[in-house]
Amino acid sequence: MAETMYGLKRTCRCGEVTNAYVGQTVTVMGWVAKQRNKGGIVFVDLRDRAGILQVVFEEADCGTENFEKAERLRSEFVVAVVGTVEKRSGAVNENLATGDIEIRAKQVRILSEAQTPPFPIESNSKTKEDIRLKYRYLDLRRPDQQEKIILRSKICAAFRRFLTEEGFLEIETPILCKSTPEGARDYLVPSRVHPGSFYALPQSPQLFKQLLMCSGYDRYFQIAKCFRDEDLRADRQPEFTQVDMELSFVDVDDVIDVNERALQYVCKDAIGLDIQLPLPRMKWIDAMNRYGSDKPDTRFGMELVDVSEVVADCGFSVFTGALANGGSVRGINAKGQAGMPRKKIDALVDFAKGYGAKGLAYLAVQEDGSYKSSFAKFMTEEQLAALVSAMDGQPGDLLLFAADKTNIVWSVLGALRLELGEQMGLIDHNKFNFLWVVEFPQFEWSDEENRFMAMHHPFTMPMEEDLPLLETDPGRVRAKAYDIVLNGVELGGGSVRIFQDDVQERMFTALGFTTEAAHKQFGFLLDAFKYGVPPHAGLAYGLDRLCMLLTHADSIREVIAFPKVKDASCLMTDCPNVVDDKQLTELGIAIAEEKTDAE
Ligand code: AMO
Ligand code: AMP
Repeated sequence: MAETMYGLKRTCRCGEVTNAYVGQTVTVMGWVAKQRNKGGIVFVDLRDRAGILQVVFEEADCGTENFEKAERLRSEFVVAVVGTVEKRSGAVNENLATGDIEIRAKQVRILSEAQTPPFPIESNSKTKEDIRLKYRYLDLRRPDQQEKIILRSKICAAFRRFLTEEGFLEIETPILCKSTPEGARDYLVPSRVHPGSFYALPQSPQLFKQLLMCSGYDRYFQIAKCFRDEDLRADRQPEFTQVDMELSFVDVDDVIDVNERALQYVCKDAIGLDIQLPLPRMKWIDAMNRYGSDKPDTRFGMELVDVSEVVADCGFSVFTGALANGGSVRGINAKGQAGMPRKKIDALVDFAKGYGAKGLAYLAVQEDGSYKSSFAKFMTEEQLAALVSAMDGQPGDLLLFAADKTNIVWSVLGALRLELGEQMGLIDHNKFNFLWVVEFPQFEWSDEENRFMAMHHPFTMPMEEDLPLLETDPGRVRAKAYDIVLNGVELGGGSVRIFQDDVQERMFTALGFTTEAAHKQFGFLLDAFKYGVPPHAGLAYGLDRLCMLLTHADSIREVIAFPKVKDASCLMTDCPNVVDDKQLTELGIAIAEEKTDAE
């Protein structure tokens, strides 16, 4: 029979007992991390969220009944212990904050017994993630996991403190919203009251925060749950959290300024990291040209080089063909990798193909100055020398080239650069490199939709000087949009918004919306713009991503208490799941085709 806490009150957490407590009597409560019975003396490591504390039981101190209870303790039993804090009699444990003290127990109560857990509750677990996630409530007990969740709470608190101090108001926006097809796929929620009608879960509070600016709230923020039905990756979940904000009467620099200070404050508060301001800024086009990515990892070099002009007249048709098709030829220099075995180079070619490359041309500059190359035979000595020189190739270097449409070349070499950077150990994992990427294109062409799509979203303001191009050359319009990038991860993004209804209408036209369709979707926003709207701008951080990077976690799953796995299911609660026919009938929903287990 489990005992109760009756008459006992916890005086402090296990991990909070320090040297200053020596001589005092404390009451601590927590989970048994380990019990060692040395015959006549029982040692228990007691764990709570603050840390681990050693408890010593000897019959002379605690009496027979308590001692027998101590002998019965097993891992994960929940107990209350009353005892005196003492300097450790045995060896000091350097690995524990409480490693030089222990408590000598006078009394113990077993508040709850525990079955043997399916995996040990310890840091640096080797248990497979799917088992850990099935028993996430146990996984969340592991000290290194708890650290991450606790740090996340600290980060949220720091954002709240900073933004409140800066005059932002925390305002909630709805979770049951209207579906707006622009962007990722929506999660839909059927309405019982309006059979055949659906709410959508918000992909972000975008429209509501703009409306709050129309309503005069001036500075808004929210730690907001967002939902996107998209393919998951290590840094993507179907539901995730944004630190979302919007400001009135501001332009790009104002948003960047307050957010740099927010990041500086939060990083210092959460992990003691000092960030030097201002953070560097890079135009989107420069990021693409130099790193092949709109979220460059600037912790190492190996920048892309455009060699189109150098190879324009060469005899290698792969290069000249790409140029003739309006594409480009670019390369990266893997310093010191000329000796890379053929097998490994072939693996890089396959890797590049995974990013849409048709191939990957290579040239190794041998120590004696000769070349080993997949295309040297198509070029003259002079052409090769010019190419090597353009790439700053020294003996020992491996030069890798992609020739294709420029956006494919960027994506192939951008990915290859990251892969090689990792393989070659060029990335300093203790660095935190923040970077603003600015002047994004307003649109990107979608072959699938056969129209321009908004690169950020349809409410983003074009740069003033590019406004006339909206109708004539949309592909060249740059947006007042900015992303904040940390170590090659898109941490957040935002933009200055369109606030004139005529510009917004022109934007919808450029995106291929008819006036009717635009009004059907976003009429409430266009109407709101007719009643006095301040110029406004905003930004949203992916909170999960920030927590992942600040805790050095490999995936955002580690910083989300109850994450979903790759197929968007929860292994613990087994959702999504089928529902009762009665529920479906009430909603007026019939399942077209039932999935069998085999599918
Ligand atoms: P955006 O779509 O760029 O902008 O999202 C902002 C940030 O949210 C994070 N994020 C995600 N994190 C985890 N899982 C996902 N599936 C996921 N999708 C996005 C990223 C991203 O930078 N309303 C605009 C912001 C604005 O304009 O103010 C928006 O949602 O870190
Ligand atoms: P091929 O002419 O197909 O035998 O290719 C000769 C070399 O060029 C091989 O090393 C290919 O991997 C490489 N190659 C083929 N297509 C491309 C491309 N689009 N960009 C860069 N290299 C390529």
